[in-house]
Amino acid sequence: MLTRRPRRNRKSAVIRAMVQENQVTVNDFIFPLFMIEGENKKEEIASMPGIYRYTVDLLVEEIGECLDLGIKTFCLFPSVSEDKKDSTATEGHNPEGLYQVALRTIKAKYPEAILMTDVAMDPYSSDGHDGIVRNGEILNDETLEVLGKMALAQAEAGADIIGPSDMMDGRIGYIREVLDDAGYTNVSIMSYSAKYASAFYGPFRDALDSAPKFGDKKTYQMDPANVKECLVEAELDFVEGADFLMVKPGLPYLDIIKTLSENFDIPITAYNVSGEYAMLKAAAQNGWLENDKAMMEMLLSFKRAGASAILTYFAKEAAVLLK
Ligand code: PBG
Repeated sequence: MLTRRPRRNRKSAVIRAMVQENQVTVNDFIFPLFMIEGENKKEEIASMPGIYRYTVDLLVEEIGECLDLGIKTFCLFPSVSEDKKDSTATEGHNPEGLYQVALRTIKAKYPEAILMTDVAMDPYSSDGHDGIVRNGEILNDETLEVLGKMALAQAEAGADIIGPSDMMDGRIGYIREVLDDAGYTNVSIMSYSAKYASAFYGPFRDALDSAPKFGDKKTYQMDPANVKECLVEAELDFVEGADFLMVKPGLPYLDIIKTLSENFDIPITAYNVSGEYAMLKAAAQNGWLENDKAMMEMLLSFKRAGASAILTYFAKEAAVLLK
């Protein structure tokens, strides 16, 4: 005789909804958006169907549409022309540069939009690295100064959440101090704490033309083989003042999300990166997977693993479905 029949709790849609342990809502989403210079241009990214690079005027319109769908938080990434790049990423903290202009323009039109930034040298670096390069080496402490200038320029332009994605040591404490000294004590920091040296960033680097010009990012991004190391990184970021911890990529690193959520009492964000998006889009275009169902299942997996927020290129599509 079977006294315990787990299927009883699955017998109808109502019961299934009642016992559901995790949910994805539009409040969970942070929508990454790519920007280009110029006016009235919108270019689709070949390896990310449905995702575009926008000039600021069209970006503002896109944000308006997303706000109507209930998406409230956006993360901006700039695609900068080669002639604006240099070895110290000067353009990254130019108050009149694309990034800062975009922040100010969006905030002027939609003060309610929460804007998260990217702090790393790579989109502006002639070396395509996240740090200053000397004799083939990525310099840590010299890079912190550049990151501090970028974070400050972004805060001055209206950023709500600063997102250091570079994996230099000590960057959270350094940036926190720069922000606090300038009076930006209310600007948050979402640290890319456990960012792995991953093959899943390929389409993003196509989108920004930001691939490293030599070598790889393995001296700063983490080894995909490691778990314990994420606790060391997260501990430092926590102590240095991070408000959120991020795990990146998301799908192949659900164990890392779980590990951090079990060990830290601040919110964890999952970055459902470009390669994860491209994988599903390619399969869906071939008719091999059902886009909407696979997408929602993927997003749910981050919640189940312990993430509170999800940075995802699927945000707009998923918001339409959830509406
Ligand atoms: C750069 C940065 C990368 C991503 C976000 N910020 C790429 C990299 O580290 O090379 C990747 C995001 C994605 O793949 O969606 N600091």
